[in-house]
Parts: sequence; C-alpha cells; structure tokens
Amino acid sequence: MRRSSRLDLIPPYMFAELERKVREKRAAGVDVISLGIGDPDTPTYAPIVAAMREAVADPSTHQYPSNRGRQEFREAVAAFYARRFGVELDPETEVMPAIGAKECIFNLNLAFLDAGDVALASDPGYPVYTGGPLLAGGEPVLLPLQPERGFAPDLEAVSSDARERARLMYLNYPNNPTGAIVPDGLFEQVVAFAGQNEILAVHDNAYSETTFDGYVAPSFLQTRGAKEVGVEVFSLSKGYNMTGWRCAAIVGNAEAIAHYWHLKSNIDSGNFEAVQLAGAAALAPEVDDYKREMNAVYQRRRDLVCEALAQAGVEVTPPKGTIYIWAPIPAGFDSSAAYCEHVLEQAAVVISPGGAYGASGEGYFRISLTTPDERLLEAVERIRQL
Ligand SMILES: Cc1ncc(COP(=O)(O)O)c(C=O)c1O
Repeated sequence: MRRSSRLDLIPPYMFAELERKVREKRAAGVDVISLGIGDPDTPTYAPIVAAMREAVADPSTHQYPSNRGRQEFREAVAAFYARRFGVELDPETEVMPAIGAKECIFNLNLAFLDAGDVALASDPGYPVYTGGPLLAGGEPVLLPLQPERGFAPDLEAVSSDARERARLMYLNYPNNPTGAIVPDGLFEQVVAFAGQNEILAVHDNAYSETTFDGYVAPSFLQTRGAKEVGVEVFSLSKGYNMTGWRCAAIVGNAEAIAHYWHLKSNIDSGNFEAVQLAGAAALAPEVDDYKREMNAVYQRRRDLVCEALAQAGVEVTPPKGTIYIWAPIPAGFDSSAAYCEHVLEQAAVVISPGGAYGASGEGYFRISLTTPDERLLEAVERIRQL
C-alpha cells in the first residue's frame, strides 16, 4: 500500500508506540507501572458526570453539533474567564469549542501556515507544536526553553529569517514537560514580539488549574494587548479529569478564531453537544472544591516522588504546576530514549524520554503523577534499585 510522503515527515506518536510495548509486556504477565502519559487516574468530578447524564437524556443534544458551539458552552467559558482570570470575552466571537487542545493546535497549523511558513515551537514542548506544522507543509523552528531563564525562550535569539517567515508561535505555561511556571515578564515580551513580527501567539493553557503551594497560574489573555495578537487554547482535560471527553475551547482574537472555524467546519462536525453542556457545568464555581482536592493529591504525590528521587541522588525542582516531574537522566546513558528503554526493560516502569519533546529535552526524563501513591512509590523504588 502506498501512503503519502507526508507521513514520512513525522515519527509514530510516542505514546502510541509506548502503549503497544506496554500491551505486549502485560500480555506476557509483566507488572508494568506506567508513569508515561499524563492521563488523570481518578474519575471526572461528580457534578460534571451528573450534568452529562442530564445532557445525554436531552434530545436537543443528539444531532450534528454546530461547529461554533452551544450558546451555553460559549457563555460558560466567557463567565469562567471573567471570574477566574479577569478576562472579558465576547461569547459570540471570542470563544469556540474544540475537540481537545490537540485538535485545535493541529488545525491552527492548517489554518495559518502555507508552504515555507514557520511556526515557532517551545522546545521541549507538546509534540503537536512540531508535528502539526510539518503535516501542514510548514516548518517548525524550535524555541529552546532555557533552564537558567526559568524555562523562558530567548526571543531575541530568534533569527531574522525565522521572524520573517513565522506565522505562529506556541507557548505553554504551566509547562509540559518541564513543570515550569511562566517567568515574570515573558507574556509581555511575547505580545510585543508577536505584534512586531505579525505572528499569531498561541498559548496552550492545558494546566492553569493544576497548581501547587498556593501558586495561581495566569491566562496569557490577562496580558495587555494579548487579544490583539493571540489566542489561548483552554483544555478541560487535565484540570477536570476529562481527557476522554475531548473538551476544550479556543479563546481570544476574534479574527483568528474565525479563520480556525472556516477551516474546522470543513474538517469535523464539532463537539457532541452533551459534552459541551457538561463542559459548561465543569466551569461553574461549585467545581472549584473538586479541583482543590485534586491538586492536594498531586501535590502530595509530587512531594513523595521528589523526596524518593532525592534519596536516589536525583536532584529535581518540585514543580509549582502540571502533573509532571522533570528530572535529569543518570550518567552513563547515551540518550534519554536509551535510559527510558532500560527502565522499561529492567524495572517494568514506563517513563517518558525528554528527547521526545524536542532537542532541548534530551538528557531528561518525565514522570507523570497520574498514578496512585503506592504504585508511584513502587515505581520510583524499582528505578532506584537499577
Ligand atoms: C501542553 C499540552 N497541550 C495539550 C494537550 C492535549 O490536551 P487535550 O486533551 O485537550 O487535547 C496536552 C496533553 O498532554 C498537553 O500536555
């Protein structure tokens, strides 16, 4: 069978590959602990499930959804942004549902890139920031996140060629995979940079609701001028334990959202409207307590893992947000992939190789905290004993 050459541009999706290996091992009777993918292990919060039950029983949700989204969803997102971030959004033009942040980010590439155009992509970063531009015929140019700058990219270092060709820029704080929070002043710099270079800044806000030690993450749209140059993709996946529901929203610049809609309405038929109603329920103030409890669980797990790693001689900075620990691989391994392969083969523990998130992730590995405490500790102990 002949496949398109487009597929040669991208490697198989890392987690799809890992899933296959884990399935094989489990089928052979091996007790594999997966600290790989960031997929919350506890159920979606009860009021969201209850809202879904009701919405599913309502026949008005059963037909093709409108791609622009249900009024209730758009208004709930706008109300949430006003309450949580102090950001005013017009629910008619500045909010649209997305079938998860992954769909949205991928389709933004198709909507904004022509051949030869550039997308500036945080490195390390969510793999779609680089795979998406390649599949769209564009070119990802990496923006290394520098630990000594608090994992901010050095925008001054972007070449004049990349500035001229860039149409998109992907940023994400709290950050996957490093766990970094947004460094002071970075969003302001991004607004100026995007404005000067006519780039659409895309802030991937997947983790603002998952923070610790009293830290409250901002929205990019809180930054003065952000709406003129950018959009934010707000995902309900992680903060609301809704990864399987495929529920997110793109918010911000109305013109950019209209272009996204133009493209998307030719590709998919929108989010199941019952999911949109459940998503609207998720954003109500009553759900805040559930998020707080969940964050207390992740904070406890974070501390357990950081302590266990420290005892094993691995120094890590406890992150103030996200569901990830980002740690250096031990000496003696050629690459993060080689180390993670070794851990999987010898300890039956899945961890993610930093190199899979971009060149700047090489030399690190990522642990996801989405596993019960005892299993997490057992996994770290197995790694320590190697
Ligand atoms: C930074 C980041 N963006 C987006 C996503 C995907 O979000 P969604 O489930 O809404 O597609 C993830 C999932 O791991 C992520 O880490």
